[in-house]
Amino acid sequence: MRAEFKGSYPSIKVLPKGDLPEFAFIGRSNVGKSSLINMLCNQKDLAKTSSKPGKTQHIVRFLVDGKWYLVDLPGYGYAKVSKESRTLFGALIQDYLLERNNMYCVFVLIDSRLEPQKIDLEFMEWLGESQIPFCIAFTKTDKLKASEAERNIEQYKNKLLETWVELPGIFVTSATEKSGREEILEFIEKVRKS
Ligand code: GTP
Ligand code: MG
Repeated sequence: MRAEFKGSYPSIKVLPKGDLPEFAFIGRSNVGKSSLINMLCNQKDLAKTSSKPGKTQHIVRFLVDGKWYLVDLPGYGYAKVSKESRTLFGALIQDYLLERNNMYCVFVLIDSRLEPQKIDLEFMEWLGESQIPFCIAFTKTDKLKASEAERNIEQYKNKLLETWVELPGIFVTSATEKSGREEILEFIEKVRKS
């Protein structure tokens, strides 16, 4: 697998039209989107990561094997940015997800350590209403004991089943331990070829 940086775009107006499949990564600031992309690509510094939230502020694309794109999206829900730019992030994310016809699936990243957060549940509801295909990837499972991670994920599924008839695809990952990589790449391969 060979991934290369292909550009960073502040709005979808400047995002080149294209018909190669795109798989996007979204979630709260600092949840580990850029780290997960690096882990999937086996390249430590491909996507810029930071311990401070709000690092990725553009749509960033990485071309994989010349055939499809991984797309790093800005985080949502970062309280320290001004109200105005928060809506701006929102608008960038919304424009991309609603208008990008070659976006095959968006991975919603959820920190496996936290109780279900309202903002994530609302975001997924919006995805559902907008008929945007998505999966969930739980992140940072290395920071928990296996049994704790399992329990949190079970709880999360139960929470989702309060509003959803069916659960989305669920992946359990750790960027530091490189877990969940094969599962996600196999899923992307399958969706790309379907
Ligand atoms: P924004 O671009 O700011 O929205 O953040 P992001 O979601 O892209 O998060 P990023 O990948 O930059 O990671 C945020 C912090 O979490 C960094 O300090 C990472 O090293 C750390 N991190 C990410 N994934 C993992 C993981 O699986 N395990 C551990 N232990 N730390 C992680
Ligand atoms: Mg990022």
